[in-house]
Amino acid sequence: EEIKLFCPATIANVSCGFDVLGLCLEQPGDEMIIRKSSSPGIQITKIVGQDLPLENQKNVAGVAGLALLNELKELHAGFEIEIYKNIKPGSGIGSSAASAAGAVFGINQLLGQPFSAKELILFAMQGEFLASGALHADNVAPALLGGFTLVRSYNPLDVIRLPVPAELMATVIHPQLEVKTADARSVLKHSVSLKNAITQWGNLGGLISALYTNDYDLLSRCLHDEIIEPLRSVLIPGFDEVKATALAHGALGSGISGSGPSIFALSKSKSTAKEIASAMADVYRKFEVDYDVHVSKIN
Ligand code: HSE
Repeated sequence: EEIKLFCPATIANVSCGFDVLGLCLEQPGDEMIIRKSSSPGIQITKIVGQDLPLENQKNVAGVAGLALLNELKELHAGFEIEIYKNIKPGSGIGSSAASAAGAVFGINQLLGQPFSAKELILFAMQGEFLASGALHADNVAPALLGGFTLVRSYNPLDVIRLPVPAELMATVIHPQLEVKTADARSVLKHSVSLKNAITQWGNLGGLISALYTNDYDLLSRCLHDEIIEPLRSVLIPGFDEVKATALAHGALGSGISGSGPSIFALSKSKSTAKEIASAMADVYRKFEVDYDVHVSKIN
């Protein structure tokens, strides 16, 4: 018995929602094959496309899957996992989340769905903890639930699925360097001024409202981040110019995807999203920075 999965890339934070807001892309994504095995536990048998550890305690898919099996207390259950990575680790579009979410989703399916989506998020977060040292759910929640998700609370975990305006598109460009989430978190300050907090929660509330009402103008007014972006953008080559270019070509907003270095832009149509992609790519060509660029629906 086996299952073949598509494990989507995700954009965490979405400017004003650090650690709480995330969205799921239709592409790119990894593929994963999970099959039942007669030897108990988890064996990662193959990883194609990236040089990542096969030992299950060192691999996010292994750690997340083991968290699920430990909770199940079915000690004889065993699974083999093959991972075909298309999402580069350290790119800022949820590479570790795709593997962690895929593992727990697939194992849960093969076991006859003993766990709810919320429980799967908790297991997948253990994989994220291995990857970044932080128990954040803003990539694994959208990877497991699809669309936009809001982590209303971490303790206890309370995740809300939000609607996606039908025409909304994402463009993501990845300058070819790796930024580890743990490093991108270490540059953050641990306190926020009241002035910045007021701006941020106003924008986050407005963004949620915009998603429910399909209000693209409001969405555009809310896609800002005065807390995290100024501290992290210095790690990203050409950030200011890429972002300004996206906005000049019709983006509703643009910012750092997750912990970077990918830069995302949201827009209202596929043609605008494609135009933004080529304009952003022009900036990196001018700077002689290698890049990958993706245009995707949010799904
Ligand atoms: N919210 C997390 C961060 C996402 O920005 O550190 C990491 O992908």
